[in-house]
Amino acid sequence: MQKLLVVYFLLILSFTTPPQYESLPLSTSSRWIIDESSSARVKLTCVNWAAHLEPMLPEGLDRKPLAQIAKHISSMGFNCVRLTWATYMFTRYANLTVAQSFERLGLSDSIEGISNNNPEFLNYSVVEAQRAVIEELGDEGVMVVLDNQVSQPMWCCSDNDGNGFFGDKYFDANEWLQGLDIVANRYKDTSMVVAMSMRNELRGPLQNESIWYEHIQRGATTIHNTNPNLLVIVSGLHYDLDFTFLKEKPLKLSTLKNKLVYETHRYSFSAGQTQLWLTQPFNKVCESITQDIHTKAGFLTEGENLAPLFVSEFGINQAEVNPAESLFLDCFLGYLAEMDLDWSVWALQGSYYLRDGLHGPEETYGMLDSNWSSIRNIEFHQKLQLIHHQMQDPNSNGSSYYILYHPSSGRCVNVENSEVHATDCWSFSRWKHEAGNRNPIRLMDSELCLSAGGDGTPVALSTDCTKEQSQWESLSNSKFQLANKDENGTYSCLEWDPNYSSIIQTNKCMCLEDSVNCTQRNPQTQWFKLVLANV
Ligand SMILES: *[C@@H]1O[C@H](CO)[C@@H](O)[C@H](O)[C@H]1NC(C)=O
Ligand SMILES: *[C@@H]1O[C@H](CO)[C@@H](O)[C@H](O)[C@H]1NC(C)=O
Ligand SMILES: *[C@@H]1O[C@H](CO)[C@@H](O)[C@H](O)[C@H]1NC(C)=O
Ligand SMILES: *[C@@H]1O[C@H](CO)[C@@H](O)[C@H](O)[C@H]1NC(C)=O
Ligand SMILES: *[C@@H]1O[C@H](CO)[C@@H](O)[C@H](O)[C@H]1NC(C)=O
Ligand SMILES: *[C@@H]1O[C@H](CO)[C@@H](O)[C@H](O)[C@H]1NC(C)=O
Ligand SMILES: *[C@@H]1O[C@H](CO)[C@@H](O)[C@H](O)[C@H]1NC(C)=O
Ligand SMILES: *[C@@H]1O[C@H](CO)[C@@H](O)[C@H](O)[C@H]1NC(C)=O
Repeated sequence: MQKLLVVYFLLILSFTTPPQYESLPLSTSSRWIIDESSSARVKLTCVNWAAHLEPMLPEGLDRKPLAQIAKHISSMGFNCVRLTWATYMFTRYANLTVAQSFERLGLSDSIEGISNNNPEFLNYSVVEAQRAVIEELGDEGVMVVLDNQVSQPMWCCSDNDGNGFFGDKYFDANEWLQGLDIVANRYKDTSMVVAMSMRNELRGPLQNESIWYEHIQRGATTIHNTNPNLLVIVSGLHYDLDFTFLKEKPLKLSTLKNKLVYETHRYSFSAGQTQLWLTQPFNKVCESITQDIHTKAGFLTEGENLAPLFVSEFGINQAEVNPAESLFLDCFLGYLAEMDLDWSVWALQGSYYLRDGLHGPEETYGMLDSNWSSIRNIEFHQKLQLIHHQMQDPNSNGSSYYILYHPSSGRCVNVENSEVHATDCWSFSRWKHEAGNRNPIRLMDSELCLSAGGDGTPVALSTDCTKEQSQWESLSNSKFQLANKDENGTYSCLEWDPNYSSIIQTNKCMCLEDSVNCTQRNPQTQWFKLVLANV
C-alpha cells in the first residue's frame, strides 16, 4: 500500500505542468491531429465525462467543487475531456435551471450536494452550466471534445432505446442537426472546444448505410459551416465499431479538408466477444481481435483517404477486474501503443446523480472513486502511462526505434546501472530490432544488445550481438512474446514478474503452443510489445 502511495504522488508530480496549447485550433495532416498554425502533432489523451443523462449536468458536481475535479483531470495526465451532451438539452430544455432539472427528477439528495460543493450552479440553466464546466477545464489547460451522445437525455446505449439511429423514436434528423448547429455556434469563441463528434454509437434495427452517408455528410457540413475551427468526428455503425463500407465508397466531404477525424470504440464485450477471451488462447484471440479492429476501423489511418482515428471509448471495470477485461486490456493497450492512436478512456465519473432509475449509483469504470476524491485503481491509471506519450511525430527528424512495453504492468524496459529493469514509462530505453527471424535487440547508440542468460536469470547486456543468446524473435500469433532459442531448440522468453524484482529475466516460454486453457503460471508476465517511436 505504502509503495503504491509513493507511485501515486510521483505520478501527480510528473503531471503538474499541463500542456500549453498556444495556438489552437487543431487540424489534421494525413493520419495525425496537428496544431493548425505550428503543424506540431497534438495527441488527444482524454477521459469521458458524462453529462447526457436525465439531469443534463456533468456528473459529480454534487460531490466535489468543479475546480477540484478539473485539477484532478489534468493531474491524472489527461489533456482533454470528451464531454457528452443530449440534443434535447439545447432544442427543448435550454432554459431549465439546474435546480429545476433536479427537482423535476426528485433528486433532492443531489441538490443538497450541489449546493454544498457548487452552489452557483443551481441557478444556472443547464446550458450555462455546460459552459461553466468547459471554461473551468479550459483554464486548467484541458481541451474539450463535445460528443452528441443521445437525443433524449438518458443512459446510453442499447439497440432499442430510441436514440440509436435516424428515425428512431427520439432521433429526428432535423432536430439533431439543429442541436449540432446550436452547439457549434455556441463555442465559436471558445478555443479549448476543439472538436465535436457527431453521434455516439449509431446502432439498432434502423441502421442503413445509405442513410448514414446522407446524414453524416449533412451533420459534418453543418458543424463545419457553423464553426470551421472544429475538428469534426465521424462515428461508425454497430456501436462505433464498423467503417468497412467506406472502403468501397469514401465520404464526400472535401469541404472539410484537414478537419475530419473518425472515432471507434472497444470493450472486452464489444460485438459479444467476451467469451472469446475466456475460451481461446490469448495469443490467438488478441491477434484475431486486433485484426478485426484494424479491418473495421484501423484501416482508416492508411491509404488514399487516410485520416486520424480517435478511440473515443474503451475501458474496464476497475473495481473488480475480471479475466476477460484483463486480457482485453493488455491486448488493446498493445494496439493503441503500436498505432499511437488518439484516445479517450471511459470514464471520469465515479458515480451518477441518476442512472437507470437509481440515485447515486457507482460507476465502476470510473477513474475516480465514488466520492470523487481519489484515483479508483492506481494500477489501471499506471497502465495508461505509455499511451499518454506521443510516440510518433510526423515532423520528427530522429530515427525510429522501439520501446519495449509490458502492457500487463504498464511498465517499460529501461537500462539502469547496466541492468535491465522494468520502470515506469516516463523514461525508457530505445531499442533497435529488425523484425523477422532471430535478430538482436540492440540498445540504441551503444554496442550492447539483450542476451539470454538461462531460466530464471536476469537478461544480460552483451557486446556479442552475433551469438545465439543474442538472437530474438517475436513468437506467437499476436507477437506478444520475445523469445531466444538455445542450442537444444528450447525457447526462453523475456519475463517480468513484479513480485520478484524490477529486473527483467529470461524464463521458459509459457503457453507458446497456444494451448487452449493454458494452465501455466501467469503468462501475462511474458507479454512484451515492441512499440515503434521516433520522438
Ligand atoms: C428559452 O427562452 C427564450 C426566451 O424566453 C426563448 O426565446 C427560447 O425559445 C427558449 N428556449 C427553449 C429551448 O425553450
Ligand atoms: C437562486 O435564485 C433564487 C431566486 O432568484 C435566489 O433566492 C437564490 O438565492 C439563488 N441561489 C443561489 C445559490 O444563487
Ligand atoms: C436503406 O435506405 C435506402 C434509402 O431510404 C433504401 O433504398 C434501402 O432499401 C435501405 N437499405 C436497407 C438495407 O434497408
Ligand atoms: C477452457 O476453459 C473455459 C472456461 O473454464 C471453458 O468454458 C472451455 O470449454 C475450455 N476450453 C477447452 C477447449 O477446454
Ligand atoms: C466515501 O466517503 C464516505 C463518507 O466519508 C466513506 O465512508 C467512504 O468510505 C468513502 N468511499 C471511498 C471509496 O472512499
Ligand atoms: C527537421 O528538419 C527540418 C529541415 O532541416 C527542420 O526545418 C525541422 O525544424 C526539423 N524538425 C524538427 C522537429 O526538429
Ligand atoms: C542442451 O542439452 C544438453 C544435453 O542434454 C545439455 O547438456 C545442455 O546443458 C543443454 N543446453 C542448454 C542451454 O540448456
Ligand atoms: C504477485 O503476487 C500476488 C499475491 O500473491 C498474486 O496475486 C499475483 O498474481 C502475483 N503476480 C504475478 C504477476 O505473478
